Amino acid sequence: MTGLFTVTVHTSADEERFSAVQEIVRGLTSEPKTLSPKFLYHEEGSDLFDEITRLEEYYPTRIERSLLERFGAGIVHDVWPHEIVELGPGNSAKSGTLLSPALQAGVLKRYIPFDISESAVREGAQALFDVYPDLGEIAAVVGDFERHLSAIPSPEGTRLVAFLGSTIGNLHPDERSRFLKEVRRLMPRTDDALLMGVDLVKETSIIEAAYNDAKGVTALFNLNSLKAVNDLLDTNIDTSLFRHCALFDTGHSRIEMHLEAEADVVFALPGSGDIVRIRAGETIWTESSYKFTRDDFAAELNDAGFGSVRWFTDPDEMFSLVVARP
Ligand code: SAH
Ligand code: TRP
Repeated sequence: MTGLFTVTVHTSADEERFSAVQEIVRGLTSEPKTLSPKFLYHEEGSDLFDEITRLEEYYPTRIERSLLERFGAGIVHDVWPHEIVELGPGNSAKSGTLLSPALQAGVLKRYIPFDISESAVREGAQALFDVYPDLGEIAAVVGDFERHLSAIPSPEGTRLVAFLGSTIGNLHPDERSRFLKEVRRLMPRTDDALLMGVDLVKETSIIEAAYNDAKGVTALFNLNSLKAVNDLLDTNIDTSLFRHCALFDTGHSRIEMHLEAEADVVFALPGSGDIVRIRAGETIWTESSYKFTRDDFAAELNDAGFGSVRWFTDPDEMFSLVVARP
């Protein structure tokens, strides 16, 4: 027997496509050219990301998982959550480390995964019901966490909000500040808690290798955002003309993912017929992944209205879980 499963898809496919098209056109006609990171996860993108998480060079998943195995139960027992809201869980591969102790304690009533990828959420829910027959309810929400957080149902008891995988690092400082304040609003009770996975500043060579793996999976993942453009805009951009590059910018403390055109690329935008020209050597900036120091990140949390902040780190201080309370 499985529990109750509901999926609320926040916007209609048409609306979503319309806003995606507008966003893409804006990005490709601005200087520098950009594409929103959410297009990385378009269709096969979620599976490619899954493959990234298993790469030798990609240390964040491995270390975060071991931190969750070591500290997850303690964190859960401390919060005693009636519900776990997880932002950007993908297929919820890590969520068991939190759900399991909460179910064992007999306290958890529902799990609310919120992700832009409906297929990943559905796949994850099925797997969770298989492994945790006691899980009473999964109330999934499909939407964009920068626009639709208010679609998350009102709390029914103490809430643990999880945001893992260093996805917080994919937001720029102003976006991060807005996002953290919104998340704070999802947590009205003083005993609610926010658990995040945060990647820490470290040697550049280790960071760059994690985003530029030898097998080329990250390159395929990055190129997938151009496939999203072709699908959504009905363009025919030749993805083989682009090269994946990932370089750490020390000043901004972020690794930047770009797609560099190896030849001039020209295509027409649908509707307006405007021509987009990408010169050989020019790049499209597809994602950043900020790396934090504890002090800087704690200051951002305080700014967003979180008072107490606790850290759970590996001995080499590569990655950290952070628990913040209102
Ligand atoms: N938490 C998982 C997956 C991290 S990858 C882990 O730690 O391994 C980032 C996840 O966030 C993906 O599942 C992606 O689909 C989702 N995502 C990315 N941008 C999003 C957005 N704007 N709104 C909602 N979900 C988003
Ligand atoms: N949240 C992940 C991170 O910043 C996303 C990610 C991993 C990613 N590898 C990537 C994004 C490669 C773009 C390209 O680590």
